[in-house]
Amino acid sequence: MIHHIALLLFAALRTTAITAPPPPEPEPISVTELPLPPVMPSTANGSCTPEINPRRTGCIDQSVGLQSGGFLSDGRHIVALVRFEGSPAAPDPTSIYTGSQIIIVKADNTTSPNGDSWKCLTCGLPPENELGRTEALDYPQTFADGSRILAGTNIIDCRPFHLTSQECTPDRTRIFPLRWNTAVDGSGPGGSIRGLRLHPDNEYLGFNAATVTARKFNQYGYLARLSFNPSPTTGTPLSPRYDLVNVTRLFDPAAVQSLSIDSKNKSLIHINPNAVTVGELRGFSGTGREVTYIGYPAESSNIDVFAADLSTGVVRRLTAHPEYCDPVDISPDDKWNVVMDTRGSGRQMFLAGMRGVPPITDLVSSSTTSSTRNNGARRFFQPYIIDYYGDRGDYFGQRVNAAGDGSPGSINDAYWNGMADPKWSADGTRIVYWQALAVPPACARIMVAHLTSWTPLLPREIPPIPDTVPWRVKYEPGTPIPARPYPPQGNYVLEGEVSGFADVVITENGNKSLMNKVGVTYHNFSDDGVYVLNGAEEVEVRNPSSTLNVVDWYSDLERTGPSISTKRTGTGGFHLTIGILTNEFEANGTLTTTVDGVVYEQPGNGT
Ligand SMILES: *[C@@H]1O[C@H](CO)[C@@H](O)[C@H](O)[C@H]1NC(C)=O
Ligand SMILES: *[C@@H]1O[C@H](CO)[C@@H](O)[C@H](O)[C@H]1NC(C)=O
Ligand SMILES: *[C@@H]1O[C@H](CO)[C@@H](O)[C@H](O)[C@H]1NC(C)=O
Ligand SMILES: *[C@@H]1O[C@H](CO)[C@@H](O)[C@H](O)[C@H]1NC(C)=O
Ligand SMILES: *[C@@H]1O[C@H](CO)[C@@H](O)[C@H](O)[C@H]1NC(C)=O
Ligand SMILES: *[C@@H]1O[C@H](CO)[C@@H](O)[C@H](O)[C@H]1NC(C)=O
Ligand SMILES: *[C@@H]1O[C@H](CO)[C@@H](O)[C@H](O)[C@H]1NC(C)=O
Repeated sequence: MIHHIALLLFAALRTTAITAPPPPEPEPISVTELPLPPVMPSTANGSCTPEINPRRTGCIDQSVGLQSGGFLSDGRHIVALVRFEGSPAAPDPTSIYTGSQIIIVKADNTTSPNGDSWKCLTCGLPPENELGRTEALDYPQTFADGSRILAGTNIIDCRPFHLTSQECTPDRTRIFPLRWNTAVDGSGPGGSIRGLRLHPDNEYLGFNAATVTARKFNQYGYLARLSFNPSPTTGTPLSPRYDLVNVTRLFDPAAVQSLSIDSKNKSLIHINPNAVTVGELRGFSGTGREVTYIGYPAESSNIDVFAADLSTGVVRRLTAHPEYCDPVDISPDDKWNVVMDTRGSGRQMFLAGMRGVPPITDLVSSSTTSSTRNNGARRFFQPYIIDYYGDRGDYFGQRVNAAGDGSPGSINDAYWNGMADPKWSADGTRIVYWQALAVPPACARIMVAHLTSWTPLLPREIPPIPDTVPWRVKYEPGTPIPARPYPPQGNYVLEGEVSGFADVVITENGNKSLMNKVGVTYHNFSDDGVYVLNGAEEVEVRNPSSTLNVVDWYSDLERTGPSISTKRTGTGGFHLTIGILTNEFEANGTLTTTVDGVVYEQPGNGT
């Protein structure tokens, strides 16, 4: 009995809900829409007429290519990617307003001396100012110096001038590419990188690099120092560029992974919620102490964002709602998170509505359960703020854009999909986010949420990330990309923290090159002594291509306790085909989760 109580206490202490303070009361929030350049009626050259824009500073195509970035450090401007269209052809001086460009947009209800509320930073640059740059300028992110922006795999640089100043003109603006050297001799164009995030020290960059390991899509997060190279002698481009140096991979094959086999008893399997599992790097905390990422699930089929301390590797779960989350920004003082999440939409509840299921079938299913969040271009994200301690009890954050009547075009119109990434202002009192309308007329808008009762934070010094951090692994150019290890094929037992156990069967494919099937049977399994799990689940996945998942899913789970839930497939199981890049839902059979009588069904095919 004493043993039992000790275990109970231990289990309770492990959960944040016990140690966290009570959830905050809702904050007053007001939301405004930012002005954008005029939208032109057609994409034909010359259709951006003086009638549409009398100041002759361009028109945009609002249906594609719009993306908001962060605030400038002055807090009065944000940066955005737009696509200009319809300008007359050269030599008309307004021909420079064409294609994808970075603009700064006034966020303080004022206009420039010329009457515009925006300024194009990259329009009309002399070719010698953008040698070797790459095409895409997505995910614009601002440097604290107010003179530089990271956009795509480039840095836009107007130093010593502030980007907003009259003196920051096209002939004084330069675009430098970034290069990650992956060749032993430093030759070639370097590695392909995506999902770049500037660390708040403005010296380090986080990024992801995709790869195919064991014939499946895989990616790792990396950290690198930005090092300006004015006259490169190896690799391309040979023009001035930023080299990524001191590169480390946020994956240590030698560290404890999410699931591990007991060192003494090879038939026992363990779940390690403290393992750092950077599936996709998503950014950094406001103070720069932590890296944020989509991690291996803490609960089965529930995709969340986590933060790991860059020095100690201590992991914090930022979201816990069963729905899906990936875009996240932590406030400058680390006290709040803003996320884009499908919570409230019901989209993922058929998969993840049953809480507390150990993340085991996720060994094969997590890329599938991530992919069901969208229906092609239709997304289900809305912005939420959540306090430092995260979702707990009945607290699932606060919807930022809750106000409104839900009518077409209103602030909380459900058809306006939240997009990546929302960003805090440097003073922590505002959030800029953007949304795209998924139904005709497709277009996008940039919104600012004002936390009207919050006191502005003062600017602070951000110490740089140390070059050596214990849990990262130094990247050596030319070395092979490791595969993620998984427990070998076999039969295992997972013991409940408090009582019961589960039989786990892991199966590899015919030639043992890849784990492809995981089955779990729960026997009065309990991690907390409050809820008990019984029943079985089995998931098998095939990958006709590295990004296509074909899944056969069988569930018959019941969880009892203060709340009762079931997760069941219909006769013949549930069979889903979904691409991780296309997100088009195509299933046969049913998978249904019921929580206290509330029934959550899968989305219809093609919806
Ligand atoms: C429109 O103008 C742009 C920029 O001057 C030019 O590159 C393009 O060829 C023109 N397109 C058409 C259809 O005239
Ligand atoms: C801008 O001014 C308008 C009209 O005065 C007001 O309704 C709106 O809330 C203001 N927006 C911001 C961001 O202050
Ligand atoms: C970081 O990179 C610089 C320049 O390449 C090098 O001199 C330094 O030794 C590196 N530091 C570490 C810890 O690797
Ligand atoms: C290993 O664990 C299994 C499952 O709990 C148990 O049945 C077995 O007795 C253990 N073996 C040893 C040597 O402890
Ligand atoms: C393993 O089997 C898969 C099909 O199940 C096949 O596509 C792959 O080429 C095989 N790999 C090796 C190393 O034989
Ligand atoms: C599970 O618990 C129930 C009720 O306490 C009991 O009847 C049953 O035998 C248990 N099953 C196992 C496998 O321990
Ligand atoms: C669903 O069934 C149809 C007809 O039998 C089949 O063509 C299709 O491949 C199945 N889809 C999935 C996801 O199993």
